[in-house]
Amino acid sequence: MREMNSEEKTPVGVVGVGWVGLVTAACFAELGHPVIARDVMEEKVDSLRRGEITIHEPGLAELLTKNSDRLRFTTDMDELLEGARLLFVCVDTPPTYSGDADLSRVRSVVDDLRSDGDHVLIMKSTVPAGTGEAIRRELPGLAYVSCPEFLKEGTAVQDFMEPDRVVIGSEPEHAAAAEEVAELYRPLGGELVLTDTSSAEMIKLASNAYLATRISFINEIANVCEEVGADVEEVARGMGLDERIGPHFLRPGIGFGGSCFPKDVNALKLLAGNSGYHFQLLNSVIEVNELQKRRVVSKLTKHLDNLIGKRIALLGLAFKPDTDDMREASSLVLSARLRGEGAEVVAYDPVAMDSARSLLPGVEMMGTAQEALADCDAAVLVTEWSEFREIDWSEAAGGMRKPVLIDGRNYLDAGELRAAGFLYEGIGKGGDRG
Ligand code: UGA
Repeated sequence: MREMNSEEKTPVGVVGVGWVGLVTAACFAELGHPVIARDVMEEKVDSLRRGEITIHEPGLAELLTKNSDRLRFTTDMDELLEGARLLFVCVDTPPTYSGDADLSRVRSVVDDLRSDGDHVLIMKSTVPAGTGEAIRRELPGLAYVSCPEFLKEGTAVQDFMEPDRVVIGSEPEHAAAAEEVAELYRPLGGELVLTDTSSAEMIKLASNAYLATRISFINEIANVCEEVGADVEEVARGMGLDERIGPHFLRPGIGFGGSCFPKDVNALKLLAGNSGYHFQLLNSVIEVNELQKRRVVSKLTKHLDNLIGKRIALLGLAFKPDTDDMREASSLVLSARLRGEGAEVVAYDPVAMDSARSLLPGVEMMGTAQEALADCDAAVLVTEWSEFREIDWSEAAGGMRKPVLIDGRNYLDAGELRAAGFLYEGIGKGGDRG
């Protein structure tokens, strides 16, 4: 087949250049599409024009540089509308005080498109099921397609380029627009799920809520393993080999965080409640997750008696590795609890310290992991950054007041840590408490 050059490829518009919008823009440009991306924040658009990005996402900066001639950034809605018919809406829908999704940014995009008849609004933002239906009723002239995103922070570029599936929801009158969207994604492979709008919206919420449920489930199994002397990793491995269960998202730890799982689990619970159904299971998923973030405190107390005046190092602050995102990070709850118990908290994270500083007043940020560990009574591995496997643990043990390490992600080699002199304890490792 003849390769199309970028002039022939369908122009793509992106509304909102946060993390999802930027990944979407960069990846469509990489696929050869001319991309125009619009954001209301002038400062952000200016720095993107200068080729500067502030988001830490592996491979993203490289793609933006490589495809700069196909990427245009603007604050001007008219320029966007002239530049592309297909508009991917990637604005945030953060939780409001009630926990429901805040749709104000989606609303302002819809208002901008009000009089428009030709464009296709492709909703990537996570919205409650029924939002598409409401927008369609309000703007019958506008083609509406739901195309939820399933990218994971830290592997977003790869997830975009090699999707498991692409979900495209539309109503029959917009089937042609849905087909145009499908056409954009076909070169990537991955199953195309063509469905109705509300089902597409529910697929997104249900997927995140289900993955979060698996995590809370395995965390509770881990807690039981500690009581009965079993090893949760063995349990997860044995469970995951059952094809009906599968191995993914069965890693226990100190709770899930990030901008999506906590928000979407709660949003689905509220959506159900607002629609007259009490989604009981999700209450437990949320509660288990909150308790899991605090369990480390009792593990530390067991080793240190009490935490008053004890100096505790947190290794990692971001909600997961390869990102500087601190939203709903377990480190926030944990450090507040530790300080509440009277401990002095120091921390090190390879990339998240700048974003963490203002969120963690009173927590001292250290230049390296080794500096954070020095003179501490105990340490907690909060985020599984690969560089923590390179730490010289014998040196670290020598410099600590008491070499206690709680591995909140079961990431380090227990044998190596114990050989280095540590009292090492992971999560769900019954009968193996260092
Ligand atoms: C999640 C989903 O995985 C994506 O598919 C989705 O697109 C995204 O939310 C979103 O809605 O935007 P993300 O929040 O980037 O992606 O991160 P995950 O890798 O899913 O991890 C979420 C949290 O779960 C992290 O705190 C991680 O440490 C925790 N986790 C994950 C576990 O505790 N155990 C596991 O087995 C897996």
